Amino acid sequence: MSENFERHAYDILIIGSGGAGLRAAVAAAEGGAKVAVLGKSLLGKAHTVMAEGGVAASLGNVDPADGWETHFYDTMRSGHFINNYKMVEVFAKEAPDRVLELEQWGAVFDRTPEGRIMQRPFGAHTFRRLAHVGDRTGMEIIRTMEQKILTVNVDVFQEITATKLFIDNGRVAGTVAYYREDGRFALFTAKAVVIATGGWGKAYKVTSNSWESTGDGAALAFRAGAELVDMEMVQFHPTGMVWPPGVRGLLVTEGVRGEGGLLRNSEGERFMEKYDPQRMELSSRDVVARSIYKEVQAGRGTPHGGAWLDITHKGPEYIKRKLPGMYQQFMALADVDITKTKFEVGPTIHYTMGGIKVDALTCATNVPGLFAAGECAGGLHGANRLGGNSLADILVFGKRAGDGALEFIQGHEGTPKVEEAEVQAEIERVLQPVGQESGENPYALHEQLQEIMANHAGISRNGPELEQGLQKMLELKERAKSMSAPGSRTFNPGWHSVHDVRNMITLCEAIIRGAIERKESRGAQWRLDHPDELEEYGKINFVHKMEDGEVKTYTSPVAEMTAELQELFQLGAAPGIAKSGKKE
Ligand code: FUM
Repeated sequence: MSENFERHAYDILIIGSGGAGLRAAVAAAEGGAKVAVLGKSLLGKAHTVMAEGGVAASLGNVDPADGWETHFYDTMRSGHFINNYKMVEVFAKEAPDRVLELEQWGAVFDRTPEGRIMQRPFGAHTFRRLAHVGDRTGMEIIRTMEQKILTVNVDVFQEITATKLFIDNGRVAGTVAYYREDGRFALFTAKAVVIATGGWGKAYKVTSNSWESTGDGAALAFRAGAELVDMEMVQFHPTGMVWPPGVRGLLVTEGVRGEGGLLRNSEGERFMEKYDPQRMELSSRDVVARSIYKEVQAGRGTPHGGAWLDITHKGPEYIKRKLPGMYQQFMALADVDITKTKFEVGPTIHYTMGGIKVDALTCATNVPGLFAAGECAGGLHGANRLGGNSLADILVFGKRAGDGALEFIQGHEGTPKVEEAEVQAEIERVLQPVGQESGENPYALHEQLQEIMANHAGISRNGPELEQGLQKMLELKERAKSMSAPGSRTFNPGWHSVHDVRNMITLCEAIIRGAIERKESRGAQWRLDHPDELEEYGKINFVHKMEDGEVKTYTSPVAEMTAELQELFQLGAAPGIAKSGKKE
């Protein structure tokens, strides 16, 4: 029986309503396009809010020597040089303008005594570079974007899940989506589509990510023919809460260490001295997360398996002013007063560096008319992301994706078509689990998926465990074909989980396949059986394609930097960086 569905036609459709999606929407609407934004969640409730400590941009307000060259240098170096250098270049050059623009739109940043935007230190940034709003920077950015979106002509559809991208003659044509509240369907046709749905941190149990982060857009794009890159690179943020169990994984902003917080083991040692004596607590995230893990493995962990973080020496007034969110979070959730006592922290999954492969300047994927920006896109961060670079990423590439989509529709005539039969077939597929009493339970499968990822593709990895993990993931993929969601389509979270789990399985298979192929340790990829970083792997990215429903893995050469950019490294020419590569 055929299903009734709403029909909407737009020039540009943006799937994802976090910072990248909203910034893309503003760019596209300001260019005159008819734009819609689809959000799985409520507007303003995006993972963007979980980048708490700041947005990285070389404004040079606190350290005047900072400039785009040093931001470029830091980002490439922390990404272990498998980043798409062209993305890094435009990113480092444009981040200051995007932050200043936000200020004009009403973002209320903390201030220097002279009244300029305040910037704080963060791990592996040479200079104090993170413009911030206490420890609620992501929230302020989302608030500002929400306000801005009201001034342009954009339709926002909330609590709606897109399930498939349609292709017409090789070009993206739109999506079908259902309203989560009651399961009614809508077809959105568009001349161009921007994916901005964030990452897939919910593939891990201990994560800072909230329920939305299940990689929907990346999985949809992948099935529609887009390529994925660097999927093995999944970031453990060094500091999540470890106690009480109900909040394990919740983010403890790097801003705590940026403001002077010290890490110690159970013996009171400042253990970072052993792992990175120069940068100490402000080493890169991969290094700090691994160091905490090693201390715990060596039996020097805290009672609940983490490290101590202590900022009491800064005094209550300073802590409450600079880190109000952390003060409240620990008081409310753990009954711990961080102005008076040290607290426990440990690694938590925070970010997925890999994602949809895009053009550095336009954010175009290899599927004509399909664009991607923000965490769902890969390439910018390479093997490890610097804190604060995600908020700058969504601003720089959100705008570029909106502009890229606009340019695409201006250069391509006509509107691609979606056949009624294709829509009905997809609706039938999506509805299939609804009301089924027997079948696989999506919640149980999600838990098993998280277990596989934690045990086989976690912070430390090795070949045999990854191979076993792949087999388990493939078994799960088979079982997932018969997931069921008893009940009706009204307020049925089990049904929503069916889509989440299917999407995460697709992406996790690519993560594991990439991790198997990368037989070295680099950034977030720590292979115990291949502990060294190897030159030959610095020259390749692993790229995944969906072929006949199967995930296939290939290599692609890392583009070589221009001679001018290489000089920044060869001569130590970036401001603040000595020839040794260390801070002057
Ligand atoms: O620790 C933090 O505040 C997170 C920032 C980020 O991931 O960019």
